[in-house]
Amino acid sequence: MELLCIQSQEHPELPLAELKAVMECENIDAEIEKVCEGLVILKDISPDNLDSYYETLTRRLGYTHEVHEMIVRSDVDNLDSDVSGIDWSEYIDESFAVRVKRFHSQIDTVGTERNVGTLILDNCDDIKVNLTKPKSLVRVVAFENNFYVAIERIKLNKKHFEDSKPHKRPFFYPGSMNPKLARCMVNLSRIREGQLLLDPFCGTGGILIEAGLIGCKVVGSDVYWKMKNGTAINLDYYGITDYRTFNVDVRELKMYEKVASVVTDPPYGISTSTGDVDGEEIFNEFFRSIYDNMKDDAYLCMASPHYVDLNPMVEDVGFEIVEQYRIKMHKSLTRIISVIRKKLK
Ligand SMILES: C[S@@+](CC[C@H](N)C(=O)[O-])C[C@H]1O[C@@H](n2cnc3c(N)ncnc32)[C@H](O)[C@@H]1O
Repeated sequence: MELLCIQSQEHPELPLAELKAVMECENIDAEIEKVCEGLVILKDISPDNLDSYYETLTRRLGYTHEVHEMIVRSDVDNLDSDVSGIDWSEYIDESFAVRVKRFHSQIDTVGTERNVGTLILDNCDDIKVNLTKPKSLVRVVAFENNFYVAIERIKLNKKHFEDSKPHKRPFFYPGSMNPKLARCMVNLSRIREGQLLLDPFCGTGGILIEAGLIGCKVVGSDVYWKMKNGTAINLDYYGITDYRTFNVDVRELKMYEKVASVVTDPPYGISTSTGDVDGEEIFNEFFRSIYDNMKDDAYLCMASPHYVDLNPMVEDVGFEIVEQYRIKMHKSLTRIISVIRKKLK
């Protein structure tokens, strides 16, 4: 069986990297077919695993907008007969809508929606079209001359990423990253539900909110008590209960329990203070202090500005960089997202 994933195209690599990281840590056994940027098919899924994989992906992913169960792969010449050959009563409950999305295709979207809708109605009793609130959504994706016909079983909560933007939280302070990127970084750290995740520069708690929402236990610390308290206010607001926050300088950090992952956005630039640590030295101090607080197989996912070379600092402490992604923020700043782990001894 197959799952069809429609991904964000706001970054050329991060959406797929996030998907791969989630598949790895959740043991999702499927082959990945990247059709084009924004369109990925997970193939060879055993029917026994399909529902749990579907639930996990929709619960976790930030840069994937939709996940659908593939019904049939078709093409321009065979679409009508393929759609007519499906037993739609297996997929549609009372009412439905067909929505078409194009990737590198010039097909007539509205015409295809009408055509597929009519074919479904002709081949299935007791269902009707409802374009505003359909119970079942048939997603047709057109890519070049191919059509992928799929059904949406679980809706991804895209509204959450709007509702959790930094200025919509009860405690706001400039410098918190966009929640989708925060979710992606949490996923890149390969954390699983129930495991402990730490952000030692927690600020307003943006990263911890995303980790808490996918079921992690979270710990946040910040050198300023105002930020530590603000994080707690924000975590409460989003209904996250399994958390602890501390007011501590990263250089003094000593966790009561080694963590399964660290996800963080250390201070840099003008909008965040580094306490009394000088400029780039905060990164050195951070690596030295965090190493012993992490389990041996833990991952660290962090953001940094392009002008800070993490390589020598990471080497020095015994870490290695395993993945890196560049996000251009503006003319003079590119943000680097690094996935780091302890070197094997
Ligand atoms: C870029 S902000 C983090 C933003 C955060 N991800 C959020 O969602 O709001 C960096 C944070 O590091 C904190 N910080 C600065 N120096 C620190 C230090 N030496 N130890 C711990 N926290 C520090 C700042 O107070 C600030 O809240």
